[in-house]
Amino acid sequence: MKQDNIMRIQKFIALAGIASRRKAEEMILEGRVKKNNRTVQTLGEKVDVETDIIKIDEQIIKISDKKLYIMLNKPVGYVTTNSDQFNRLTVIDLIKKDIPERVYPVGRLDYDTEGLLILTNDGDFTYKLTHPKHSIEKIYIATVKGIPTNDKLQKFREGLYIDNYITAPAKIEIIKTMQKSCQLKITIHEGKNRQVRKMCEKIGHPVVKLKRIAIGNLYLGNLPSGKWRFLKTSEVNSLKMFNVK
Ligand code: URA
Repeated sequence: MKQDNIMRIQKFIALAGIASRRKAEEMILEGRVKKNNRTVQTLGEKVDVETDIIKIDEQIIKISDKKLYIMLNKPVGYVTTNSDQFNRLTVIDLIKKDIPERVYPVGRLDYDTEGLLILTNDGDFTYKLTHPKHSIEKIYIATVKGIPTNDKLQKFREGLYIDNYITAPAKIEIIKTMQKSCQLKITIHEGKNRQVRKMCEKIGHPVVKLKRIAIGNLYLGNLPSGKWRFLKTSEVNSLKMFNVK
C-alpha cells in the first residue's frame, strides 16, 4: 500500500519551500535539521508529514497551511482515495505533478463514475460538505437501460427502499431518449454508497454511464476529462454559504 504521508526528509524540506533537495541534504549534514527534537543523522530519514515535527535551526517547518480548493473532472477508471490497496490509479495521480501539497477528495465518486470532484486540504470544508445534515444537492447525468415510465419516475422522486433505508426526496427527469436507453438528470441530497446506481437499479433501469455535473451551485462546465482547476474565491464562498443553516 502506498503511503503518501511518508517521505524522505530532504523531499519534505523541499516541499516546504525551504531549499532544494540538494541544499536540504547539506543542511542535514551540517546538523541543522531535527526530527522530533533529535538531530537527523541520515539523508534518507523518513518523515511522517502528519505526525513528525521537523525543525531547521530550531524553527518548525510545515509543508503548507494554505487552503487549496480544486475542481477535477474525474475520468472513469480512477479511485477517489489517496492510495489504493490494489494499486489502481487514484485521482491524486491526476494532480500530484502540479500540486505537491496533500489534498483529499471531498466525498467520493465510484471507480466507474466520472465528473465533478472537489479536492481540498480544508478539513472543515470537507466536513461541512459531506455531513449528512447539510445535505448539499448533487446533480448527475445518468444513462440508463430502457426508458422509465412516469410511475417509476414518481417512485424515484418520493423515495425508494434500498439497503434498509428509504431515500430522501429526489428529482429526476428524462432529458434525452435513445432507442433502448435514455439520459436522466438526477438530483439527490444524500451521498450513500453507489446511491444513484442503486436507485436506478431499483426502478428497473440500471445505469450504464454516470457523470456528476454539479455540487450545490458549482457546475463542472466545460472542464475536460482528467483536468483540474482551482476554484475561484467566489465559488468557495458560495459552497461554504450553502452549508449555513
Ligand atoms: N451515486 C453513485 O451511484 N455513484 C457515484 O459515484 C455517485 C453517486
